[in-house]
Amino acid sequence: MTVDLVLRDAKIYLPSGIVEAGLAIEDGRIFKVAKESNLPSASEKMDLNGMLVLPGVIDVHVHLRDQELSYKEDFYTGTCAAANGGVTLVIDMPNNKPVTMTSAALKERMDLASRRIVVNVAFYSAFPREISEIRRIANAGAKAFKIFLSHTVGGLDPNNEKSVIEAFMEAAKSNLPIAVHAEDGLLLQENIKSLRLEGRDDLYAFSEAHSPEVEVRGIRRAMKLARESCAHVHVCHVSTADGLRIISKAKSSGLPVSCEVTPHHLLLSEEYVDKVGSIALINPPLRSREDVLYLQRALKEGLIDIVASDHAPHTLKEKEGSSVWDISAGMVGLETMLPLMLTMFNRGQISIQTIVKVLAEKPSKIFRLKDRGVIREGAYADLVVVDIKREWVIDPSEFYSKAKFSPFEGWVVKGKPVKTFVNGVLSMDECEIVVKPGHGKIIVN
Ligand code: DOR
Ligand code: ZN
Ligand code: ZN
Repeated sequence: MTVDLVLRDAKIYLPSGIVEAGLAIEDGRIFKVAKESNLPSASEKMDLNGMLVLPGVIDVHVHLRDQELSYKEDFYTGTCAAANGGVTLVIDMPNNKPVTMTSAALKERMDLASRRIVVNVAFYSAFPREISEIRRIANAGAKAFKIFLSHTVGGLDPNNEKSVIEAFMEAAKSNLPIAVHAEDGLLLQENIKSLRLEGRDDLYAFSEAHSPEVEVRGIRRAMKLARESCAHVHVCHVSTADGLRIISKAKSSGLPVSCEVTPHHLLLSEEYVDKVGSIALINPPLRSREDVLYLQRALKEGLIDIVASDHAPHTLKEKEGSSVWDISAGMVGLETMLPLMLTMFNRGQISIQTIVKVLAEKPSKIFRLKDRGVIREGAYADLVVVDIKREWVIDPSEFYSKAKFSPFEGWVVKGKPVKTFVNGVLSMDECEIVVKPGHGKIIVN
């Protein structure tokens, strides 16, 4: 037989180890991994010159925006940014305009996205007003629910404990995990109020409002919700050592919980806002050096399930509000996440196994993304080719994202995604997007 494509002369990351081999792709899936002499003939052959092939990155925390927020980012620019960063699948967050909180809103978003995306996209939904709608949202293909414990996004009041537990139980019936933005709303509001009364309006005031204790209380509550509902609870962007300790303890007690950490919380501590200003204003905020070191150690020791970008684009104007209380929190990360992780590998801080685990294997497992996140025969050919030794400088003006600024501007990083394959097709080649909008697929199972 003749397959669609053969990638030859590669180092391929398999669950059993890295092999020097070639990879045959047929109909969007991996047909065979073998020495070149054992591969079938192909309509097209591509020489990878000994470069490393990893499973494409699955970024489970991305705000693609679009619709009425398309001035910040849209499905095309956001997924071009993904492809440029070696990301082959993103899960889109629901705090949109309109909020993704009904099956109709979800379908509308899927329909718009299907014509514009260049990588695969799965969707979160916020909880709806009516509990009966939860199943319809699941049937429409949401891969997970998302709840902000600190404020209402969607149809469910996060302070109504009984309704929240009911909603979690209903999501669990459809086997969907619930991602939790874990902050205690009450303490947060108190903090904001007293800081404002003191006349505080500096960048550190934001961090003090969103204090470690705000996160810790949010995470404690998330664990309680997991215990009482038996739903899988996934804690988003853990930023504190204490928060992570609580999750690790809950895990060892058998609770169905998982967590993610962002590259910025792994690499930057709070003093960094002195350097780059409000561009580094994010929620949760950058933390102490001790927290950063603890997260780095935890990553190495396997306590962190997933690394996700929390790609949260805003305009420069929104990032430069006159008062800290008016500045939009968030930074982009799709184009820097894998390079930063590869840089950590090159510094000897983590292994390639850890990178693949937190960026592909665990995301696929926790969010049930069938036949993705792993290189094996029969799986989808979502791949990233990395030039592991290439040193380069992060230049946000070259981002595909509409938000062309990053706290990592000017960083010399080592390791670069040079080719991204989505569904078996070369989609990014040396920073060029080489597929048309609509190439990516909506992932519903
Ligand atoms: O920094 C953040 N930005 N944190 C969030 O929780 C929301 C996000 C956004 O949507 O901009
Ligand atoms: Zn969040
Ligand atoms: Zn987010």
